Amino acid sequence: MPIITLANSKQYEAALGTSLLDAALSAGLVLEHSCKTGRCSSCKARVVSGHTERLRPEEVLGTVDAEQGWILTCARAALDNVTLDIEDLGDLADYPARTWPARIQQIERVLHDVVKVTLRLPPTAKLRYLPGQYINVLGPDGLKRAYSIANATPGTAGPVELHIRAVEGGAMSAYWFGRAQANDLLRLHGPFGTFFLREAVGDHVVFLATGTGIAPVKAMLEQLAATPEDKRPASVTVYWGCRHPEEHYWTPTDDRLSVRFVPVASRPQEKWPGARGHVQTVFMADAPDLARTWVYACGSNDMIESAQHQLLAAGLPARRFHSDAFVVSG
Ligand SMILES: Cc1cc2nc3c(=O)[nH]c(=O)nc-3n(C[C@H](O)[C@H](O)[C@H](O)COP(=O)(O)OP(=O)(O)OC[C@H]3O[C@@H](n4cnc5c(N)ncnc54)[C@H](O)[C@@H]3O)c2cc1C
Ligand code: FES
Repeated sequence: MPIITLANSKQYEAALGTSLLDAALSAGLVLEHSCKTGRCSSCKARVVSGHTERLRPEEVLGTVDAEQGWILTCARAALDNVTLDIEDLGDLADYPARTWPARIQQIERVLHDVVKVTLRLPPTAKLRYLPGQYINVLGPDGLKRAYSIANATPGTAGPVELHIRAVEGGAMSAYWFGRAQANDLLRLHGPFGTFFLREAVGDHVVFLATGTGIAPVKAMLEQLAATPEDKRPASVTVYWGCRHPEEHYWTPTDDRLSVRFVPVASRPQEKWPGARGHVQTVFMADAPDLARTWVYACGSNDMIESAQHQLLAAGLPARRFHSDAFVVSG
């Protein structure tokens, strides 16, 4: 079986036909990832030596990327021994994915096109995850969709909160906005993803969210609120972009954590006194100290790509930019 070697010399076996990412996860090694379907580029890595085959399209990679040996580890399998120019994320993200039964405890319409769903797990279930991670919901008719967990309750069997936006013509949207009701039985599979807080004591933490991209941000803020003062960042700022001001259906109001909250509207009425435009532009207009800032971007792929491009060009070190794109997950 091919052996995969990482930049920190850790090794794992990868069966033919299994993605490099799945093989690593099965071996207990967590590599950077999000969608697992070749659509977000979180798992981008460079092949130093060896040969791989493509299991699914890698549309988010450009021609130049491919020529320079970049691949998506969720989209490629090894053909022989392969060396990758990436490291695993250590024990931090080591919460193995499992399947969990869950019942809808409450489903609440917070906007005409957003529902807040609370899922109840059996008392014996110990779903552990890092705030910021997502879970797959296995719904009716064999549907499977990814949703970020919007609350931080690691180590407990507490309820799981999801914020779900309706997608026009969407199969799972039809369920959430039509048929779903309290007590429905679903299954969850997860947790997944490597969108979680890195240590940033004394630095600034900035969240850029669009739409329901605020969900994992809420979970991370809850985690920060429960963190001792001497282990916290120097400041926390949340830029949350929606089209209209009334679409900001949630406000950070935890007394334990001081948060600068900047609601941003891209299509407000004339009289809106708040920030206008795109979150990444509003953030850059605040003249941030990028050398001392960690940025977490979540929501639309367009925002994430544009933010990453702008911020890295302005001097943000690449390792301080983390993102989770809500791309098609079906
Ligand atoms: C890691 C991850 C986390 C996510 N977390 C959340 C979350 O917390 N809240 C949330 O509301 N959504 C989230 N999503 C998106 C979610 O998983 C679904 O893709 C989305 O809700 C659409 O599902 P659907 O079954 O209604 O539509 P589908 O039946 O899958 O698609 C219907 C049509 O809409 C298009 N479409 C599907 N998804 C999207 C999309 N995301 N953006 C634009 N067009 C789309 C499809 O191309 C298709 O044409 C996440 C996605 C990923 C990958
Ligand atoms: S492209 Fe591989 S995890 Fe998203």
